[in-house]
Amino acid sequence: MQKVTLKKAVFPVAGLGTRFLPATKAQPKEMLPVVDKPLIQYAVEEAYAAGIRHMIFVTGRNKRAIEDHFDTAYELETELEAAGKHKLLELVRSMNPGDMDFSYVRQPRSLGLGHAVLCAEHLVGNEPFAVLLADDLMVGSPPVLAQMAEQFAQLHQSVLAVQEVPAEQTRRYGIVAGETVNDKLIKVGTMVEKPAPEVAPSRMGVAGRYVLTPAVFRHIRNQSTGVGGEIQLTDGIAGLMNEESVYAFQYSGKRYDCGSKEGFLEATVELALAHPEVGEHFRNYLKNLQVA
Ligand code: G1P
Repeated sequence: MQKVTLKKAVFPVAGLGTRFLPATKAQPKEMLPVVDKPLIQYAVEEAYAAGIRHMIFVTGRNKRAIEDHFDTAYELETELEAAGKHKLLELVRSMNPGDMDFSYVRQPRSLGLGHAVLCAEHLVGNEPFAVLLADDLMVGSPPVLAQMAEQFAQLHQSVLAVQEVPAEQTRRYGIVAGETVNDKLIKVGTMVEKPAPEVAPSRMGVAGRYVLTPAVFRHIRNQSTGVGGEIQLTDGIAGLMNEESVYAFQYSGKRYDCGSKEGFLEATVELALAHPEVGEHFRNYLKNLQVA
């Protein structure tokens, strides 16, 4: 069988970020930094580490900062160069290595995650692609999307990242159930968006990483609105399952729900502790902190 590689990633970034108001009133939630990098940069770096070079952003109003972040910062670079600040110059330039392409498309109205992905269809075309939700900061070695790309290269079918979630939290996730293939893979038989714990088919919750085949677009387009009156990606994938196999993959690594304040703070503390520049200082600071 010919090896199929992933070349494109879709980043739905049009959401309003109401859970982080007032911080997100005038800036995209994806630009909130964890230690020193905005959330969206962690996601782009993860896609890059999985071999993906074409980054497609589904943006909306008030999201211009994301485009600027991945563009050349001409004035900044000129000034850093003139001041001889070569390390910083290298850092700024490294965010956009010459081998990456960026495309932007707007989602004009908040019609749901499925609709956002559909907005990228003409840029993805007829090939498999990844979807990364930047709110979910994933830390893994190898990076979580690279683990999924490896699974996809063998399965040639859609792969969803899943983790076990507490029973009382099923309402926050797409929940999958199915047939166990091995200790990491489930062949999905049922997929439901945000079910109540009483009716959830399992406790396997989808984290914000997907590798999808292009047939999913047709299923998203043909479905009616789902939970919350939105066009759900979960329902599109559930439709795809009538035609193709879909696998749930239990990744190795940790997910931080940076769409919530608690998850964002946990990511900040743990990534700060692991940070080569500030980690040691921060560890000493925490040790001496009197926490009641
Ligand atoms: C979205 C998806 C959901 C998934 C979750 C992961 O929900 O609709 O199926 O489990 O992301 O973070 P959201 O968190 O955008 O409400």
